[in-house]
Amino acid sequence: MSEFQNVRFEKIGGVGVITVDNPPVNALGPGVREGVIEALRLGNEDPEVFAFVLMGQGKNFIAGADIRQFGKARPVSTHVSAKALESSQKPVVAAINGFALGGGLEHALACHYRVGSPSARVGLPEVKLGILPAGGGTQRLSRLIGPELALEIILSSRHIAAKEALDLGILDEIVDAKDLKSAAIEFAQKISALRPMPRTSEKMTCLDAARANPQMLSLLDNALSQKTRRLRVHDCVIECVKASLFMDFEEGLNLERTHMAELENSADSKALRYVFFAEREVKKVPHLPPDYEPSRVASVAIVGAGTMGSGIAVCFADRGVPVTVLEASPENLERGLAKIAGLYAARVKSGKLTQSAMDEALKLIQGTLNYTDLAQCDAVIEAVFERIDLKKEVFTQLDAVMKPGALLLTNSSAIDINTMAQCTKRPHDVAGAHFFAPANVMKLCEIVKGDQTSVEVIARAMKMGGDIGKVTVLSGTCDGFAANRSRAALVSEAMLLLEEGASPYHIDQVMREFGYPMGPFAVSDLSGLDVSYDTRKRRAAANPNFRKLHVPDHLVELGRHGQKTKLGWYRYEDGSRVPQIDEGLMPIITALNRELGVEQKVFSDDEILKRLLFASVNEACKILQEGKAYRASDIDVMWIYGFGFPRHRGGLMFWADTVGVQELHRQITQWHAHYGERWRPAELLNALLLSGETLRELRSTAF
Ligand code: CAA
Repeated sequence: MSEFQNVRFEKIGGVGVITVDNPPVNALGPGVREGVIEALRLGNEDPEVFAFVLMGQGKNFIAGADIRQFGKARPVSTHVSAKALESSQKPVVAAINGFALGGGLEHALACHYRVGSPSARVGLPEVKLGILPAGGGTQRLSRLIGPELALEIILSSRHIAAKEALDLGILDEIVDAKDLKSAAIEFAQKISALRPMPRTSEKMTCLDAARANPQMLSLLDNALSQKTRRLRVHDCVIECVKASLFMDFEEGLNLERTHMAELENSADSKALRYVFFAEREVKKVPHLPPDYEPSRVASVAIVGAGTMGSGIAVCFADRGVPVTVLEASPENLERGLAKIAGLYAARVKSGKLTQSAMDEALKLIQGTLNYTDLAQCDAVIEAVFERIDLKKEVFTQLDAVMKPGALLLTNSSAIDINTMAQCTKRPHDVAGAHFFAPANVMKLCEIVKGDQTSVEVIARAMKMGGDIGKVTVLSGTCDGFAANRSRAALVSEAMLLLEEGASPYHIDQVMREFGYPMGPFAVSDLSGLDVSYDTRKRRAAANPNFRKLHVPDHLVELGRHGQKTKLGWYRYEDGSRVPQIDEGLMPIITALNRELGVEQKVFSDDEILKRLLFASVNEACKILQEGKAYRASDIDVMWIYGFGFPRHRGGLMFWADTVGVQELHRQITQWHAHYGERWRPAELLNALLLSGETLRELRSTAF
């Protein structure tokens, strides 16, 4: 046995077994590619070795390049170690356990054979990081399974399960999961004498595909609609896969590398790589004892089967968790259960779910009118109307019946968690679980910490969210909580711009060009102008300095409530938004502005963007300084998953760093002088100006 850095080499029964051992996921970190090359050299020189097995130690094969190394010099690139595998004189069998992703799959594709355990999952997810598979991935996968499939797999970044990989021809065999190593060695012994050795780079599948379908080039060109093909990386991938049709292999590799050199240092890729790590950080609960393992929520109760409650019930039933739904009256319960069945039926109708899967899910959902039926559930989520008296009553009842240690959660979107906690004798068990509407569709779930919520309860609630497929983020209790409170500043600023003469259509267009799927006014129409009108009324009553938003208030009073009234900022016909501007709207706004006597001006795209986003960055800094969010990067995750912030911009705080703290501070200070209190710079921003730190690395010391 020989030892390399992160790579082991041992000889077993004439087979040289190369094991990548680089925890936690066997990424191709420093030394790994070199180790693989060195092991191949040793084995090729050793007359006792007839074939190789390449495998990963532990749960995974190789999860790809070490993402932290991008932008830094790499002594050996993936295409070099992949080439060493393919040009080995003795055949190499990739033995895939768990994930073979990115450079990991590229190494496997360069091997002569690929076997996998039933739990193997393969994919080329580089596009999600703003780069392309430049270790031969575009060229080899295309030659192995054909360009159309290869393109779909690369552009989607999806993980492919073993069975599909076998059907596609990425795997040659699925072998015994209990002892993959022995099974792979046996396979290697079986094929060791076979010649010629199959080399993916020499396969003709691409040319065959092109000959069979002369329209192939334009087919590949149109692989993405103009709407989704918005990043440079998409064009680069399509170009490389097309090249596999008419360029020889080496030329194709060169093209991959040329594009990679550009993409690796692009702003998009830096942002996307940042998001990768932010998504992992967000799961980490601060101040949690290191050995604490949160238990799984195996049964859940939901109080209130309205729109939110029924959506939440579906989230749990989808993941096989039994749900007990409580309503106040038989009629409400019947209506709620029908709503849940309706959500499933819509999915069956659209072909997203089978009837039998729907039947199975519905069997998990029980209705009740008695609180005692909830007692044994591991968690309860209150989802009644947003009225404090009602919530207090529910929590008093829950406290009386729920078993000790049950999570007592509220889906409130704004009410102070402490209000509900104080109605119980166990405030440490009370937290917020703020789902975003529609709950069964939106990925974000905010777990909200009250003043007395225990860190273990937070960890269990976070795990519960993760277990039902949500991106779960941590927030402190404050009006709107971290996500909506930080976005409210953007929305207010958009409304205030209207008073100064900007048009909602211009603002929406600027935000769409920035990368949002919809502008804030289109979103406002969807959620209903009346909803935010009511919230403003509540806030105005609580705060004498509340800045009235004249334009949306006026529209609500005119009955323009958005899509539901077929008229809001836009017009709606047959349930769809009319893309043209509504000629009737601007005269209403102009007349109101005349009454208000606000000076009118013309806005540039840049000013619109900055007014909206800077307002939220400043608010986010206040949220962090008050300890109502823990990490700035958590806020970025909230914006990406809750509000459609373009992922390739990295999130609100990452984007702000690309503008720079100095410029941010200068502009906010200027607007503070001009517009007054709402633009007062956050103290944290003042501090950053002096310390020179970035926004995205901020962690709240008050959390
Ligand atoms: N590079 C560096 N760190 C990585 C990593 C990678 N490729 N993949 C995972 N990690 C780290 C994570 O940051 C995390 O670290 P912390 O514990 O410090 O937070 C740890 O490994 C575990 O990761 P997960 O929490 O994500 O573990 P999981 O079991 O939930 O998921 C996984 C495992 C599916 C492999 C997932 O980690 C993943 O998708 N990784 C990235 C895969 C990828 O994108 N590969 C392509 C890289 S680009 C490339 O390969 C191009 C090339 O060679 C030319």
